[in-house]
Amino acid sequence: MGKESKRPVLGAASMACLLVVVSLCIVVLLASKDSPFLSWRNQIPNRRDDNDAREVDGVTEDRDALKSLLGRLVIGEERNQLQVGGFTCHFDQHFETCLSANPVRISNGGSTVHVLSDGSKFERSIRPYARRDDERMMKPVTPVQILHGDAANLPPCDFVHSTPAVIFSTAVTGNAFHEFSEIIIPLFLTCQHFRLQLKFVTTDRNALWIQKYSGILNRLSDHEALNLDDGSVHCFPGAVVGLRYHDNLALNTSDVPAGYSMREFRQFLRESYDVKIKNELEKLQKPVLILICRNHTRKFLNEDAMVKLAQELGFQVVRAGPDTVSNLELLAKMVSSCNILVGVHGAGLTNEIFLPDGAVVLQVVPLGLDWASTNYFQIPSTAMDLRYLEYKIEANESSLSEVYGMDDPVIADPASIFAKGYQTVRDVYVDGQNVKINLDRFKDMLEEAMRLVRHSAIKDVKIYFTTAVYSL
Ligand SMILES: *[C@@H]1O[C@H](CO)[C@@H](O)[C@H](O)[C@H]1NC(C)=O
Ligand SMILES: *[C@@H]1O[C@H](CO)[C@@H](O)[C@H](O)[C@H]1NC(C)=O
Ligand SMILES: *[C@@H]1O[C@H](CO)[C@@H](O)[C@H](O)[C@H]1NC(C)=O
Repeated sequence: MGKESKRPVLGAASMACLLVVVSLCIVVLLASKDSPFLSWRNQIPNRRDDNDAREVDGVTEDRDALKSLLGRLVIGEERNQLQVGGFTCHFDQHFETCLSANPVRISNGGSTVHVLSDGSKFERSIRPYARRDDERMMKPVTPVQILHGDAANLPPCDFVHSTPAVIFSTAVTGNAFHEFSEIIIPLFLTCQHFRLQLKFVTTDRNALWIQKYSGILNRLSDHEALNLDDGSVHCFPGAVVGLRYHDNLALNTSDVPAGYSMREFRQFLRESYDVKIKNELEKLQKPVLILICRNHTRKFLNEDAMVKLAQELGFQVVRAGPDTVSNLELLAKMVSSCNILVGVHGAGLTNEIFLPDGAVVLQVVPLGLDWASTNYFQIPSTAMDLRYLEYKIEANESSLSEVYGMDDPVIADPASIFAKGYQTVRDVYVDGQNVKINLDRFKDMLEEAMRLVRHSAIKDVKIYFTTAVYSL
């Protein structure tokens, strides 16, 4: 571009020319900022082609653009390695990730990544799911082998892609809390700054899960997640294997990659589900309370009475049961129109993430689950700009008091049960407990919630569901 601006003798016409050239340059610069892979995109994407030449003619500019995008995912020595050798890995307590700005060929259903390199021939194995510290959860996650080798030893490409691959596992699904903490937020952290210019490759492919989260995936990549289970070999200019993780339902602005907060993630969700744009139907006068109803464990034993009470106190009540909770798009829209979300500690409370700023989340804490309640939902709710209320049940509100009796260690001495280990705790408190809410105490809490809602800054909450939905 510099070539065009040879110094002309100053005159009105040439000055105008110069201005045009300068503004063109600015336009080009802005455009290339938005689409770092413009020239890759112009190469033929996605075609069956055994000719290896195309992937290695990657223009230096593109390689540098890729290095700089990947570089945001590491700091210090790791970033240095990426700049110099085009490859680096990061391991910590929670997750592992490898980044390649060198061309890669992905085969074996996504679980083998061949990295083009001239000299070194080492290999390593990455499990692309962000729960490294939990062996039980990591069990179904297929490791991805990363092999380094020269072009002569790599399998030929069946498909050549012009944007980098991001490989992650969909083996661990079915619990919204883990799906958001360990896949969805990490995908956002890892991919948002690529501005759609990447392709997802899923291992341990779960088509239903991909379908469920398509609203979000489509907002991070301009291509649907690739399925390599047919044994084909796909070639990319670079890759990310495994996703960056911060914390339980959390984004940390000072962690790597810098600058992403929960606020931005919630905005991203709203955009993914078109919340606040479409489907505005009516404005209701009454505050809307959404009750997350579980039907297996930790369920409300007097749910109908709770609903009646909330209605008497002036709330419009929506019940969201297991069927609703599985329809993420509907749920996102519903929850984003609610003033208060009520539920027993459990994955359903993850939906607090869709509440509007200033709304109230009321967590019912069963016996023995204080730590998880605080760390999984209370602390994250603060970063979401929500108000948090807690209804901690008393012993006689737990079904465990009837099963074991008030004097049993399960009730009287939970610490002794915790000493027996995770599985016992899980069987007793997590999977073995239902709650019967004390309506007098619950009334006080709902009144407190109503006060918060009345004084809340929530304005302009749009209602996304028709009255039909209220019968759910
Ligand atoms: C956020 O990340 C920084 C840098 O890694 C770390 O020092 C800090 O403790 C983190 N904050 C939280 C709340 O985890
Ligand atoms: C819970 O709800 C799901 C989905 O509606 C249903 O398939 C299941 O049978 C229900 N379980 C119980 C114990 O009612
Ligand atoms: C449960 O215990 C509380 C005190 O801990 C008591 O006030 C309440 O009446 C009890 N409820 C029932 C149903 O026994």
